[in-house]
Amino acid sequence: MSTQCKWTALVLAAGKGTRMKSELPKVLHPLLGRPMLAWVLEAAAGAGVESVIAIVGFGRERIIETLSSKYPSVRRAVQADQRGTGHAVACAREEVGGGDLPLLILNGDAPLLRGEVLATFLAAHEASGAAASVLSFIATDPTGYGRILRDRDSLVDRIVEDQDATPEQKSLREVNSGVYAVSSSALFEALEGIRADNAQGELYLPDIVPLLRAAGRPVRVHVAPTAEDFRGINHRAELAELAAVLRARKNRELMLAGVTLEDPATTWVEQDVQVGPDTVLEAGVRLTGGTRVGTGCLIGAGSVLSRCTLDDRVQVRPYSVLDEAVVGPEAMVGPFAHLRPGTRLGPRTKVGNFVEVKATRMGEGSKASHLTYLGDSEIGAGVNIGAGTITCNFDGFSKHPTKIGDGAFIGSDSILVAPLEIGPGAFVAAGSTITHPVPARSLAIGRARQEVKENYAEVLERRFGGSKKEGH
Ligand code: UD1
Ligand code: CA
Repeated sequence: MSTQCKWTALVLAAGKGTRMKSELPKVLHPLLGRPMLAWVLEAAAGAGVESVIAIVGFGRERIIETLSSKYPSVRRAVQADQRGTGHAVACAREEVGGGDLPLLILNGDAPLLRGEVLATFLAAHEASGAAASVLSFIATDPTGYGRILRDRDSLVDRIVEDQDATPEQKSLREVNSGVYAVSSSALFEALEGIRADNAQGELYLPDIVPLLRAAGRPVRVHVAPTAEDFRGINHRAELAELAAVLRARKNRELMLAGVTLEDPATTWVEQDVQVGPDTVLEAGVRLTGGTRVGTGCLIGAGSVLSRCTLDDRVQVRPYSVLDEAVVGPEAMVGPFAHLRPGTRLGPRTKVGNFVEVKATRMGEGSKASHLTYLGDSEIGAGVNIGAGTITCNFDGFSKHPTKIGDGAFIGSDSILVAPLEIGPGAFVAAGSTITHPVPARSLAIGRARQEVKENYAEVLERRFGGSKKEGH
């Protein structure tokens, strides 16, 4: 459904969120990789809202910092003391400016709200021609919500808060979602009339309803199809519950798009992550930080990928940790591999178990299959890095690079002391400590020569007496 007007959203985000017991403002707590507030902003954008004003108060420096970096177009209004939702909206008056703008009012702590639910509401409001509309829903347990009191014509009479409700009113299950559509001139005029004469001593936004009606402006209620969209967050148990709902939505979206999730209940894919079809995510996989995974990949059990880009048909075996790595097609990583920032693996490369790679490029088909550290290295194509190889990239003062040419063979347990260059097609003998450049196609051996003393056992037996003891 599309709307006709150019809507401006006011997002209420000034409250402290005392029950979160946190230094962080409530609306900045993340769910599935996005701050709570960002979910509300995305829902507003999804409904076609053109402009947004966030009303901030508690912890506003941090909120403004987040908004400036991720949502620079969002404008701000400050509510220095939290004197209620009506007061919060009044604080945005200057930022809204004069004239008569259509406003959508939203709570900043309801991250399940979907753009399509808002779009339907806005379209219904426009079609009704009312001065204001309230979005309601039917709650299984209405405790804590404002109850909708309807008159004989089924129009909204007023909204009574939980704390102010009579036992009879408390039994009503139709409640205020905290979402309103209203024209700015009618809103600010009505806000001048509200009083804090209620149980909480606050200026309630819903109190504009009877004032609008008294001014001869019709107010409509639209009932939303589900209650879930309006679940708010007051404490960390609700934060986890709502994050689980968002996760289930994302998982379902992935599965319907052709991704296999072996165990959705233990898989965490953040909202801004992309996964291609025919990729399999095994149990306990976690994909974060805008990671992109191609098609036909396998991400093994317990693997954690953050800020990565994987091409098609990549296999990440179980329990690997990848951060800011770019992995080429058909590469094989893990099990138990650690790719750190700046890792760039070419097509058909292999990084096996207990291999750590940092700020290193590996060309096509190169392999480091076991127990290796590669840091600050430039490795060509078709290179074989033997088990236990270590690039000594740090001398205690600064980091140095290692360069290994195409087709080189690095024997097992080699210590490559950087800065170092090993030419194409060169060989490094197993167990070497290499400190000087190795020219192309040559062999470098950097280890003590083996000495053999024949029949030396007899000498030892004479010296220590008797025959060899059992070891322990
Ligand atoms: C509000 C409604 C209630 C509705 C419910 C839906 C009022 C008085 N009540 O109650 O009818 O059923 O939402 O969730 O509006 N905020 C500010 N400044 C303030 C106070 C609140 O910015 O001075 C912000 C909060 O940060 C929050 C939002 O407004 O994001 C809602 O405030 P909250 O105190 O949670 O209102 P509810 O008790 O949920
Ligand atoms: Ca609330």
